[in-house]
Amino acid sequence: MTPTFSADPTTQPAWSRLTALGATVGSSTIRSLLETEPARPEAMTVSAAGVHLDLSRQRIDHDVLTALQALAAEQRVLEHRDAMLAGAHVNATEDRSVLHTALRLPPGAHLAVDGHDVASDVHEVLTRMAAWSDAVRSGEWRGATGQRITDIVNIGIGGSDLGPAMAYLALRHYSDRALTCHFVSNVDPTDLTEVLRPLDPATTLFIIASKTFTTQETMTNAAAARDWLVAAHGESAVSRHFVAVSTSADLVAAFGIDPANMFGFWDWVGGRYSMEAAIGLSTMVAIGPTEYRSMLDGFHAMDVHFATAEPSSNLPLLMGLVAVWNRDFLGIATTAVLPYSQYLSRFPAYLQQLTMESNGKSVRIDGSPVACETGAIFWGEPGTNGQHSFYQLLHQGTSTVACDVVVVAHTPNALGRQQDMLVANALAQASVLARGRTADEVRADGTPADLVEHKVMPGNRPTSVIMVRELDPYTLGALVALYEHSVFVQGAVWGINSFDQWGVELGKKVALGILSAIETAAGADELDSATAHSVSQYLNLTERRS
Ligand code: F6P
Repeated sequence: MTPTFSADPTTQPAWSRLTALGATVGSSTIRSLLETEPARPEAMTVSAAGVHLDLSRQRIDHDVLTALQALAAEQRVLEHRDAMLAGAHVNATEDRSVLHTALRLPPGAHLAVDGHDVASDVHEVLTRMAAWSDAVRSGEWRGATGQRITDIVNIGIGGSDLGPAMAYLALRHYSDRALTCHFVSNVDPTDLTEVLRPLDPATTLFIIASKTFTTQETMTNAAAARDWLVAAHGESAVSRHFVAVSTSADLVAAFGIDPANMFGFWDWVGGRYSMEAAIGLSTMVAIGPTEYRSMLDGFHAMDVHFATAEPSSNLPLLMGLVAVWNRDFLGIATTAVLPYSQYLSRFPAYLQQLTMESNGKSVRIDGSPVACETGAIFWGEPGTNGQHSFYQLLHQGTSTVACDVVVVAHTPNALGRQQDMLVANALAQASVLARGRTADEVRADGTPADLVEHKVMPGNRPTSVIMVRELDPYTLGALVALYEHSVFVQGAVWGINSFDQWGVELGKKVALGILSAIETAAGADELDSATAHSVSQYLNLTERRS
């Protein structure tokens, strides 16, 4: 099934309507919207798979939502959704299906794509992953000297790092504390060196995670890790201390890892959509196969919701459409994700790749230039830490930043009043971001006249509050799937390909040329003047040039 491309969204009738609404509703205040519509918080909170999304602090109203839904219909977002879920090659520039949703299908499900049941492939790998994880967790899998494995080092980068690293921290409460996972991604030798420094090769196991098994950073770190192990226990130790996760069995074998110790996935899983493919092996070892299945079930529950819920109550659809509204009709270029949960400390970093590698595009899927803004800049930090860092700009800076405040109701680590304090902070910030504080209110506090303007808070920062009961594996899966599908919705409206990443390729190629100029001076003449100058400075500073 080949997808058809959607039209330029800016030519659609709903786009004109939204542009007009941007000048009216868009310039009204969230405070006035909240005051004139008392039922707004209930009416604008939608829930699915344990995730509650409250859009009442967004600069939207019923007319805006209606027009956004009309735009989605004109851009045939739901047809594109169905095409993706059915395995159409919606990643047209790479001629690939996009089937991360197949990774979380329940046991017994079937999904025929290009005449092949991909669901049975998925479950076959999951079964192997579970057997291996159980063996490591139980101590049945031993290192070359017969000792139990205590430390797992995942070597990978981008989607082969961020998802597992984020999930390991997020699900720490559910993890086996006898095992510690570490994540090495940077080609900076400091990353691997500092991770390995306290570890014992006899009890350390490496997962080499790379979809392509060609990524320079990962292959370089993997080779160095291999040398570290071999220096301690010899070549024969490699099979007990190295496993691989990849789509490329040949390259894994060429690296010297027994294909029996490889867990595969498929080209229809994008790197940034792979944390629940075999790339999640470290997560499964940490939390065990049963909790891992629960995480997949959470993903799947959100998938089913996205596939079947009415547009008016479809969380990913609404979240994606509101993101388009903020970006294109309110001109807001950045979104801060502010989790009020220490367990979600790497969630913003994970979302940076998911959102910006997916929707940081300037051409539509047919190669024509976009005529509107596309993906917002995504960034963030755990909430209370951010409050003492960059929230000043959020509240009073000249740029408006849209905010996602993520609140987890229960903590497994109750300590006095701390959880209530945390949640109070989250809700206080959401309120101040949305409502601000007027000069009259500041004056009424008794503020001296010369300080009033300094203390005025403009508010009107569009803010979503995303609340969940607890951060268990199921909920984490549902939360990630919500963002994945929201990204898809935005890309489908804009008519871009959210699943390729050509923009990252050139830098990799240029780096190879610069590396040979640094190491052998070969090709140095071809460097541009600024690069040649920097190379020369680097060679001087590293005492390699007289
Ligand atoms: O350079 C970007 C990228 O291709 C990401 O999309 C991907 O997640 C990452 O590199 C790692 O790729 P691989 O898993 O093939 O090593």
